[in-house]
Amino acid sequence: MIEVDVSQARSFLTDEEFEGALEKARVSLDAVINKTGGGAEWLGWRDLLEDPNDAILEQLDRLANAIREEADVFIVCGIGGSYLGARAVIDALTPFFGNKGPEILYAGNQMSGTYLEELLKYLEEPNKDGEVKSVYLNVISKSGTTLETALSFRVLRKWMYERFPEDADERIICTTSAKGGALNQLIEEHGYQKFIIPDDVGGRFSVLTPVGLLPIAVAGIDIRTLFYEAVSKFEELEKDPNSVLEYAATKYALYQKGKDLDLITSFEPQLKSLGGWLQQLLGESEGKEERGMFPAVASYSTDLHSLGQFVQQGTRNLMETFIVVESTSNKLTIEEIEGDHDGLNYLSGRSFHEINHRAFEGTLKAHTSGGVPSIVVTLDKLNAQHIGEFIYFYELFTAVYCYCLGVNPFNQPGVEDYKKEMYQLLGKN
Ligand code: PA5
Repeated sequence: MIEVDVSQARSFLTDEEFEGALEKARVSLDAVINKTGGGAEWLGWRDLLEDPNDAILEQLDRLANAIREEADVFIVCGIGGSYLGARAVIDALTPFFGNKGPEILYAGNQMSGTYLEELLKYLEEPNKDGEVKSVYLNVISKSGTTLETALSFRVLRKWMYERFPEDADERIICTTSAKGGALNQLIEEHGYQKFIIPDDVGGRFSVLTPVGLLPIAVAGIDIRTLFYEAVSKFEELEKDPNSVLEYAATKYALYQKGKDLDLITSFEPQLKSLGGWLQQLLGESEGKEERGMFPAVASYSTDLHSLGQFVQQGTRNLMETFIVVESTSNKLTIEEIEGDHDGLNYLSGRSFHEINHRAFEGTLKAHTSGGVPSIVVTLDKLNAQHIGEFIYFYELFTAVYCYCLGVNPFNQPGVEDYKKEMYQLLGKN
């Protein structure tokens, strides 16, 4: 279960401000449901939960299991919405160290030659048992033309043919749009396995399509639970959307009052990438027409020692979103030591989880009294079930909140500007 607590932000708003925003959120939700808002042709992320295609999950599971048996390394080659969702779920749900199954590596999300060269060098190195590393490559690009991804794919694909001349075609998997683009041409020529990104699902809303689900399944995460819990959340929110409405209204009212930066934080370091996914989902959806809150991400308590001063006493333009995990299977507790030389025996018998939670509670209290309104989103546990719910919850929230702001959540016209300048400098026709 996910709970949203807006009480620490409500004290910054009058009842009138909140009620006005709530009405706006209701109208915005209607626009999402009735497909009457801007960009309504991009609501496929809702349709795929309303009418699940189990055959695709089956196909993804089968392929992922085969890859898990065969591969030492699985490369996810994509950028933005074509990799952030997978990375978020994988980092949240796999162990920090020594995950079983193939090592998941990322490429195509920047253009550093150093990174790519070092990646190739690493792939060349034999396994501990002296064998050649078995590598699979999943290129993910809806357009098939994104420079970062296409350049890395060009280099990695060549390497795959050199390293695996017999079966490179079977080791390359493409996730792209149904038709058109350079990738589809290669798929036709080489017979690569292909998964389709539906036309009506934009990159940042695509984690529950093969874009996210194949890498997530290869990492050993149960994609059926993830997907069907998102379906349950969809059904639940269709009946009772209150949590989304209150959240969207609160954030929109805070924006109206001059808060223009949302610092997304968690005390669980494995949720840092989930913050990255949220950052794109919100930032690319709301940041247009000179509107929107800038989504920043911080990992606490680490960043309390770098950003904490600013949050507590700097420019008062920010709000905070805390992503909290209620319970954990981790049992590590503090033991009493003789002599108490570090003065920490007062904590003995208490778990790290409890201490970390107290740090969250203390931070929330301090930041609230420092003038930072906060919204707290709590997940019962960190598992596929709750992350599945979380994904759909935030997708719907983003759409509703953006309609409150009066922007189309589903386009990203501003992203083209840097590309135009870059291509001109690179001499592209
Ligand atoms: O959300 C988006 O639409 C973007 O972040 C895209 O996913 C990103 O630019 C990658 O595009 P493509 O999948 O076409 O390579």
